[in-house]
Amino acid sequence: MTITVTAPSSKFTHPSAIQHVARTYTSDQYVLPSDEEERKRLHLQHRLLRHTFEDRLILAPVELVDGDAVLECGTGSGIWLLDAAQQITANVDMHGIDIESRLFPRSHPSNMSFSKASVTSLPSEWTSTFAFVHQRLLVAALQKPDWERAIGEMHRVLTPGGWVQLDEVGSWKAGPTTAFHQTLVQQLFRAKGLVLDCATYIPAMLEQAGFVNISVQERSIPLGKWAGNHGADGAANFIGVFRAMKTPILKAGGLGFVQSEAEFDTLLDKVEREWDQTKGAEIKFYIFSAQKASSSL
Ligand SMILES: C[S@@+](CC[C@H](N)C(=O)[O-])C[C@H]1O[C@@H](n2cnc3c(N)ncnc32)[C@H](O)[C@@H]1O
Repeated sequence: MTITVTAPSSKFTHPSAIQHVARTYTSDQYVLPSDEEERKRLHLQHRLLRHTFEDRLILAPVELVDGDAVLECGTGSGIWLLDAAQQITANVDMHGIDIESRLFPRSHPSNMSFSKASVTSLPSEWTSTFAFVHQRLLVAALQKPDWERAIGEMHRVLTPGGWVQLDEVGSWKAGPTTAFHQTLVQQLFRAKGLVLDCATYIPAMLEQAGFVNISVQERSIPLGKWAGNHGADGAANFIGVFRAMKTPILKAGGLGFVQSEAEFDTLLDKVEREWDQTKGAEIKFYIFSAQKASSSL
């Protein structure tokens, strides 16, 4: 793992940046890291989400047949593709793209491949190529115009009649410390132009792009030990997400909420304790499905 110390004097940081031990990030825009610790968290998160949706990975009513192709955008470590490959015939071509290749899996089946690309600008030769496009958790990466472009690109690369599935997080609640911390996260997202409540806008953006048969499934993921192993996994995953936002928050000078690395760490410890002690602490999660009309080009 690469460890660097962010110095307030660096020309890349805000003048009031708070010095701290930083993890490895792909860009200033995407607020989560891309290191081995993140790979482990993504795998925990995958198990958590799979369990949350009754062990189903594909909720869209797509029927994949030999010769079809599947695309995953923002694939990260490719864990969803690797798991989905167990349920999909080996004669389906599976491809993952991401702006960062560091987490791509070191080994994968021969019908699977990965390349570096942004979902906001997919290769022009991919028009009408994929029967199914999956994208999970780009909330910490895309600004509103990026969302519109990304959904338009996913529509373009689908075959007529093909399906898209977008998996995104919603709001979370527990108690006053969580509410305070949530305001800090909202502030970070606002400063970066990111859309924390993207789930609210996704159906309209899908419709705008020309998708039909839009539907959503909502689940609540319990946070904290009060909810047994599932709650402990939920808390471990999402506190991991929020701790991983330390560098963008401290690089921005703490955004008026924290003044040192120790203060940030203590706040996150308090949030974690609050989840463990608050029956009903939860985070919402949504899976959207939509179809490219058969008549679309
Ligand atoms: C929270 S991770 C989720 C990874 C994977 N979808 C999963 O659920 O395990 C978000 C991923 O999106 C990638 N990403 C960020 N901006 C992107 C963009 N514009 N196009 C494609 N991928 C992007 C990041 O590099 C990261 O791997």
